[in-house]
Amino acid sequence: VTNQAGDAGAAIAPAGSGRPAAPVVGMVGGGQLARMTCQAAVGLGIGFRVLAADAGESAAQVCAGTQLGDYRSDADLAAFAAGCDVVTFDHEHVPGAQLAALERAGMTIRPGSRALRLTQDKRVMREWLTGFGVACPPFTEVASAGQIARFAAAHGWPVVLKAVSGGYDGRGVWVCGTADAAADVLAHAGEHGLELIAERHVAFRQELAALVARSPAGQGAAYPVVRTVQRDGICHEVLAPAPGLPPGRRAEAQQLALAIAAELGVAGLLAVELFDTADGLLVNELAMRPHNSGHWTIEGSVTSQFEQHLRAVLNLPLGAPDLAGRHAVMVNVLGGDDPSDLHDRLIHVMAADPGAKVHLYGKVVRPGRKVGHVTVVGDDLAQLRGRASRAASYLSRGLAEE
Ligand SMILES: Nc1ncnc2c1ncn2[C@@H]1O[C@H](COP(=O)(O)OP(=O)(O)OP(=O)(O)O)[C@@H](O)[C@H]1O
Ligand SMILES: [Mg+2]
Repeated sequence: VTNQAGDAGAAIAPAGSGRPAAPVVGMVGGGQLARMTCQAAVGLGIGFRVLAADAGESAAQVCAGTQLGDYRSDADLAAFAAGCDVVTFDHEHVPGAQLAALERAGMTIRPGSRALRLTQDKRVMREWLTGFGVACPPFTEVASAGQIARFAAAHGWPVVLKAVSGGYDGRGVWVCGTADAAADVLAHAGEHGLELIAERHVAFRQELAALVARSPAGQGAAYPVVRTVQRDGICHEVLAPAPGLPPGRRAEAQQLALAIAAELGVAGLLAVELFDTADGLLVNELAMRPHNSGHWTIEGSVTSQFEQHLRAVLNLPLGAPDLAGRHAVMVNVLGGDDPSDLHDRLIHVMAADPGAKVHLYGKVVRPGRKVGHVTVVGDDLAQLRGRASRAASYLSRGLAEE
């Protein structure tokens, strides 16, 4: 076990001072979510550590309290947790057995293993939501072409096939227009040992995300409901607040997210991804960590989602989730084909739009990979969308147009 600053504790507790005055949060996972949570911890004077696989990972590059290790290893997790007051997560891949072992050893993990279990298996998540009375797209387990054909006969083509676990950014989601296309996915799943569910393809008006925080004391805070726009299954743009969403439905989405968080005893953030349809809201999935749909909160809300997550997992009073302006727009920066130095492009964007807030994650540029995001806050939604998209497009491809 190593870390970049030598002794992970050195930055937090000077020798001989005993226990640090401020609590220490440990985040498992070294991606951009941990990197941005680290920034929030710095501002609050809270101790922050990261368990990363590699010193080059996004958060490991900047977090003094980085410990290298494997999130699937009992020993590495226990060694990491031993230096932390609370352990939380920037991804949902820590196996349930390891989470349970940490809890048995008396470590505080937030959210807890019971809630996290749902984020690790889309079938378990759907079954729990349905049992709790939450409307979801109709779904079924599928292991054969015959089952998919029967599902399609009842719900129509296209059918959405999803890997129950391991997917992200739309990898693991296939929209199949025909039985042949579904058979190809089934064969692929068989080769890779993936379990699948089939889901009705939902004709939504817009996709929404309801982000809430809940503390172990039971305090809740609901962010404005946002519209998320996906391209090729990856979050492309987020508009806060969601345009055209009637107040009743906005309140319904927020109350639904708070109710799910309370029922599951979530400590930390809960993002509920929703489809807004003519017949009502359907829940697509849950995430219990900072979420791409909440990156706009860094500049666009009184309290960023990263600070809020720290407050919630530490059982501190939550911050105000209100918008800091009329509208905020966030666009992701995806790696383009040309791996040119992002910094050169950043200079251009700084000059072209001094009000655009650019966040770069220090990640190696690969086509389609999330390497940063841009947020703009202001009054004119159409103008903000144009600015955010021009800046992100330039950073991605060296071109200012879509
Ligand atoms: N049943 C459906 N009907 C229509 N579109 C869907 C359906 N399920 C998923 N999608 C589309 O695919 C996107 C990705 O799906 P989903 O969120 O289930 O996958 P994921 O890879 O786990 O995503 P994430 O990156 O959020 O973890 C959704 O945001 C939506 O645009
Ligand atoms: Mg999703």
